Amino acid sequence: MKNEWYKSMSFYQIWIRSFYDGNGDGIGDLYGVYEKLEYIKSLNVDGIWFSPLYPSPNADFGYDISDYRNIHTDYGDLEQFRKVLNRAHELGMKVIMDLVINHTSDEHPWFIESRKSRNNPYSDYYIWRDAKNGKLPNNWDSLFEGKAWEYCPEREQYYLHIFAKKQPDLNMDNPKVREEVKDIMRFWLDMGVDGFREDVITFISKAKNLPDGLPFIPAANGMPYYKDGPHIHEYLSEFREVCKEYDCFQLGEGPMTTTKSALLYMNGKDKVLDLMFHFDHMMADCIFTEYIRRPFKLTRLKRAFRKWQKELNGRAWNTLYLENHDHPRVISRYGSEKFHRESGTMLAVCYLFQQGTPFVYQGQEIGMTNIRLDSIDKYIDVSSKNNYHSFHLKDSVAKRLARIHASSRDSSRTPMQWDSSENAGFTTGTPWFYVNPNYKKINVADEEKDPQSILNFYRKCLKYRKKSEVALWGDYTEYYKASEHLFVYRRSYKNKYLLIVCSFSPHKLKWRNIREFRDRKGRLAICNYKNPKRGILKPYEARVYEY
Ligand code: GLC
Ligand code: CA
Repeated sequence: MKNEWYKSMSFYQIWIRSFYDGNGDGIGDLYGVYEKLEYIKSLNVDGIWFSPLYPSPNADFGYDISDYRNIHTDYGDLEQFRKVLNRAHELGMKVIMDLVINHTSDEHPWFIESRKSRNNPYSDYYIWRDAKNGKLPNNWDSLFEGKAWEYCPEREQYYLHIFAKKQPDLNMDNPKVREEVKDIMRFWLDMGVDGFREDVITFISKAKNLPDGLPFIPAANGMPYYKDGPHIHEYLSEFREVCKEYDCFQLGEGPMTTTKSALLYMNGKDKVLDLMFHFDHMMADCIFTEYIRRPFKLTRLKRAFRKWQKELNGRAWNTLYLENHDHPRVISRYGSEKFHRESGTMLAVCYLFQQGTPFVYQGQEIGMTNIRLDSIDKYIDVSSKNNYHSFHLKDSVAKRLARIHASSRDSSRTPMQWDSSENAGFTTGTPWFYVNPNYKKINVADEEKDPQSILNFYRKCLKYRKKSEVALWGDYTEYYKASEHLFVYRRSYKNKYLLIVCSFSPHKLKWRNIREFRDRKGRLAICNYKNPKRGILKPYEARVYEY
């Protein structure tokens, strides 16, 4: 495959419902996206990843698909999608779609048929099991909602759902299902899309006989039996063949993926994915999921960065991200809302200069922060609600709500803050979800005017990156590894260097540059303060030196 172009690109992720409403019904849509394509291009990104745009009952906001070959009426139609796609291409941007094939919606016609009887053309499209000694087929929990099994009276059987009840898992062992997947891929590739972000793709092959998991692990107890399952490489190589017919690339989401298993997908002659999203660096203030909190520790974050930079170097290509639609806002967790501009710009530097393909999530580029709603009933995300109602039940309401404030996926799903007018300029109608009340301070229009803003800083970094061979291809070396305040790394390529210095401290820090740098004549290329001082780093200061 000659698709290596993705290595020098950067992407912008759109979660359309909250991006921009083009027709005034309070819901973001493809009319809105069309109007904002120039804005996206102005960030100096080279492509767009669309979270699902397909028809969906929205039990999991698009990740429960009821028709793979259409656009949700809330967002437009296929014609409008083609318009967006063509205009994005004209602007020199690639477009990748979300491919969600571990499960469908329970309202997908395949499932509607499948649940009717044990012998119809779709009866084996999903994972159906009889009760075992009057109990559930196994002890797996769902990651989103109670147990992983739901009873269906028509079939007198249970179906498996690793995610919400309305997300039944497809039976990928059925060759017909795999043919369907390939057809869906061709449908979008024929239209001209440039690749796929493949949702929880490492979960699609389940272990034979679906053995019980360890009973004391909540939520993820079945994971050893559905993550990196027995036939995953076979199935993915079938899908790979489709992609080889086009000039496209595949990016797989791998929750809890290790470098070792990621390399098996991305490297060698059996390469089936070009890129992967891992979660390691998202655990610096939590365990397994953001709901289970622990204090942020910089050394933990650095260790995750270092591991992936080192172990993939020369073997596979990294993805770089700090936010997406599944995580709370990064300033609110790894930075500081008090030092909003400072920490927002520092966080940009901290990841954009590593080796890999960067992703910027909508709103991240202006430093949007977590929303704090005063009741769990105001939250809409199925997993946040489930966490609240299943864990730490003895804690006070205030304590549990604080956990939701820190962890909810809803924080990344509030409407994009375009300006300081009503509803943050997101819609002329009534927004479908709460707008973060800080929109008068944090919005695109104001940041456009301010050369020091987070927005303009992202533009600067993304532009620099594109033109710098060292930033694109350089090796990664880290300094001050044990520091809980400083993150310092060097990129090196053909005898040229970049030195990246990030302070994660809200206080001034005394600091001495590394020896190698002092011996050569370096130049400060980027800094998030106007007058950087020698020997001192201001709160959340970030610098990029070249030498
Ligand atoms: C992925 C998606 C997430 C979704 C889940 C189930 O992790 O990113 O939003 O809820 O898969 O499809
Ligand atoms: Ca709309």
